[in-house]
Amino acid sequence: MTPAKPQRPPAEVTWADELARLAAADDAPRPPGWRLSAKAVRAFVLGDPTLGVEAKFVGQPALVERAMVALATNRGLLLVGEPGTAKSWLSELLAAAISGGSRLVVQGSAATTDDQIKYAWNYALLLAEGPSHRALVPAPLYVAMRDGLVVRFEEITRCPLEVQDGLLSVLSERVLAVPELSGEAAMLDAREGFNVIATANTRDRGVNEMSAALKRRFVFETVFPIPDLPTELALVRREAARLLARAGVPTVPGDDVLEVLVTTFRELRAGETADGHALDRPSTVLSTAEAVSVAHAVGVRAHFLGDGVATAADLVECLSGTVVKESGDDADRLRRYVDRHVRERPGRHWEAFYAARHRLP
Ligand SMILES: Nc1ncnc2c1ncn2[C@@H]1O[C@H](COP(=O)(O)OP(=O)(O)O)[C@@H](O)[C@H]1O
Ligand SMILES: [Mg+2]
Repeated sequence: MTPAKPQRPPAEVTWADELARLAAADDAPRPPGWRLSAKAVRAFVLGDPTLGVEAKFVGQPALVERAMVALATNRGLLLVGEPGTAKSWLSELLAAAISGGSRLVVQGSAATTDDQIKYAWNYALLLAEGPSHRALVPAPLYVAMRDGLVVRFEEITRCPLEVQDGLLSVLSERVLAVPELSGEAAMLDAREGFNVIATANTRDRGVNEMSAALKRRFVFETVFPIPDLPTELALVRREAARLLARAGVPTVPGDDVLEVLVTTFRELRAGETADGHALDRPSTVLSTAEAVSVAHAVGVRAHFLGDGVATAADLVECLSGTVVKESGDDADRLRRYVDRHVRERPGRHWEAFYAARHRLP
């Protein structure tokens, strides 16, 4: 049996050929320690049709440029925003292009400890030989400093404050102390190319609680949801097609079904229909990332359980598990939305959506 393929290769693997092409054509200046010039990094993230490079992050070029400038200086980058606005995705793309790899990641949580960030010990060796380089088990921050790479720190504000503040001296002095070792070995100097990209969700414990000292060492950039329907629709179509292709599903839900999906998401997210009627907003986050997942599910459902053609009725089935997560009230809100606003809409797919409403929870 052939071994199963990885479920989700990192950006540097998925687009290895693009990265190689960009590197080959790259004659612009590179910040110290970067694998590519800033212009080539920008092309990788935002796309460049002349080089056959796909657009991957949809957003303002100015945001991406400011993010890169921050990473080429001695402050870290903190991407802030609602869940599902592609903060993690942007940080992965930047790390892949700047350092050639995006897998040095610390996942922040209430249980994150210093040794998951900096280093731990191999206890057998530690007991046998005492503290030594051999016994030290490097964690992502250590590796990034040692090798001059970008390290990603996901959901940094979910970490205890004292753990967050453990980054202070690293970000300002660019040195990591290893007090257990002596002499030269007790200090790890960060190499050129090292920096930190952190992300934080505005729905979690806020960035407000982050210490002023740490805030000062980061450049903050807010990532906003995609402002217009056509752009969001195109992104959902493209990402769903990519995920479905990986799952061996040959057909992508049609544009009319996707338009019903994205419109529903946008209206529920905004608490207002496109023609200006107020509605009761569900408590769940209805991000673009969630819309992509629902489009993926609709395609999977149609292919594996249906006749291959996705309909708005499949959409109803796949929608409720995404919208209704936190409270039964959300089920009522979704039902009210369909009853009041979808009912009158012209078009075969809106009609099918309305007709399938009995499948809502
Ligand atoms: N502006 C965007 N550009 C590209 N993809 C986006 C964008 N907004 C949302 N997405 C979709 O959302 C997914 C990423 O969400 P993620 O990075 O996990 O969000 P966050 O970290 O902000 O919660 C992407 O894989 C993509 O499918
Ligand atoms: Mg994230």
